[in-house]
Amino acid sequence: MICFPVSRDKRVHMAEPLRVCITGAAGQIGYSVLLSVANGDVFGKDQPIVLLLLDIEPMMTALGGVVMELQDCALPLLRDVVATHDPYVSFKDADVAILVGSMPRREGMLRKDLLKANAGIFSTQGKALNEVAKKTVKVLVVGNPANTNCLIALKNAPSIPVANFTCLTRLDHNRAQAQVAARCGVRVDKVHNVIIWGNHSSTQYPDVSHGQLEGGQKISDAVKDDAWLHGDFITTIQKRGAAVIAARKLSSALSAAKAICDHMRDWWFGTQPGQWVSMGVLSTGSHYGIPEGLIYSVPVQISNKTWTVVDGLEISEFSREKMKATADELVEERDAALVFLPSKQ
Ligand code: NAD
Ligand code: LMR
Repeated sequence: MICFPVSRDKRVHMAEPLRVCITGAAGQIGYSVLLSVANGDVFGKDQPIVLLLLDIEPMMTALGGVVMELQDCALPLLRDVVATHDPYVSFKDADVAILVGSMPRREGMLRKDLLKANAGIFSTQGKALNEVAKKTVKVLVVGNPANTNCLIALKNAPSIPVANFTCLTRLDHNRAQAQVAARCGVRVDKVHNVIIWGNHSSTQYPDVSHGQLEGGQKISDAVKDDAWLHGDFITTIQKRGAAVIAARKLSSALSAAKAICDHMRDWWFGTQPGQWVSMGVLSTGSHYGIPEGLIYSVPVQISNKTWTVVDGLEISEFSREKMKATADELVEERDAALVFLPSKQ
C-alpha cells in the first residue's frame, strides 16, 4: 500500500498502482480506450494506474501527442505514463496487457487475411510478456484475427498461466445484445445471457437460445420470430465489422474500445449472479465438443478474477452445426499459423 498525504493529519490509503499496457496506443482504438482506463471506469475509482503505451517507432511522435493529451486530462488516478516502441519496456511488470497494436482490415478483406501481417507481432509480444511481465498478467488480445493471435501469444509465453490469455469477442456479444434490445423495444441492459461461440469472424455463432430479458422471459418468446433469430440476426452480427468498415472506411474503434473496457471490467470485478459474458479462451476439449487447443469464444462466469466456462447448456442440432463450422475455421487458422506456434506446449 502507498499512502498519499492529503493534509498534515489525514492520509488516504490507496492501492498500489496497476501497470496497464496498451499496444497500438497511437492508433484509433488506442485513442478511444485510454481515457476510460485512466479515469477509473475499468479498474475502479480508487485504483491508481500506470499506463505503459507501446507503438512502433515511426509512431513515437504521434504517441507523444497522446501522452500530452493524457496529461492535459488532469486525471487524479493516472500516476505515470511510459511511451515506448520496445515491448520489453512496455510489458515490464505489467499487471494487464491489452494487445491492440496490429494492422486492421480494409474493405473486402476477411479478418483472417490479416494473419500473415499480424501473427509475427503476437509471437514477439508473447515472448516479451513471458520474460518481463508479472506472471499474474491478464492479457486481452484485440488485434485481428484475435483468436489465433491470442493462441500465438499464449504459446510463446509458457511461463504465464494459459487462463490469463483471452481474446475479445465482447464486441460481438454487445452487438447481439443491442440487436435483441432494439427488436424487443427494451433497454440494452435488460437483455441477458446472449452467447458468442467460436471465432471473432464471419463464422462466429451468435446464439440467443439461452438468453432472457430481465424478468425471465426467454429472448425467443419475446422476439417471436425464429426466422429472424436463425437468419438475419446471425448474419447481421457476423458481418457487422465489415458493415462499419464499408461505412467509415475505418474499422470500428469506439465500440471496440467500449467492449475492451467491458471485458476487462468484468474480468476484474466479476459477472453478475446468474449472468454470463462471452470471451475467447483456450479450449480444453471438455466443453460442448469444442476441439482442444483453440481460442474459442464461450459463455463464462467470473469471480475472483477467474473465469469459468458455463457448462451444461443444451445444444440444439442447429447450434451444434454452427459451433462446428466456426471451430473448423479456427483449426484452419491455427494450421496456417503453425510456424508461429512453438511445438512443445
Ligand atoms: P489502427 O491502424 O488505427 O492502429 C493500430 C496501431 O497499432 C497503429 O498505431 C500501429 O502503428 C500500431 N502497431 C502496429 N504494429 C505494432 C506493433 N508491432 N507493436 C505495437 N503497435 C503496433 O488500427 P485500429 O483500428 O486501432 O485496430 C487495431 C486492431 O484491432 C486491428 O487488428 C483491428 O482489426 C482489431 N480490432 C479488433 C476488434 C475485436 O473485436 N477483436 C475490434 C476492432 C478492431
Ligand atoms: C470488428 O468486429 O469491428 C473488428 O474486428 C474490425 C473488423 O475487421 O471487422
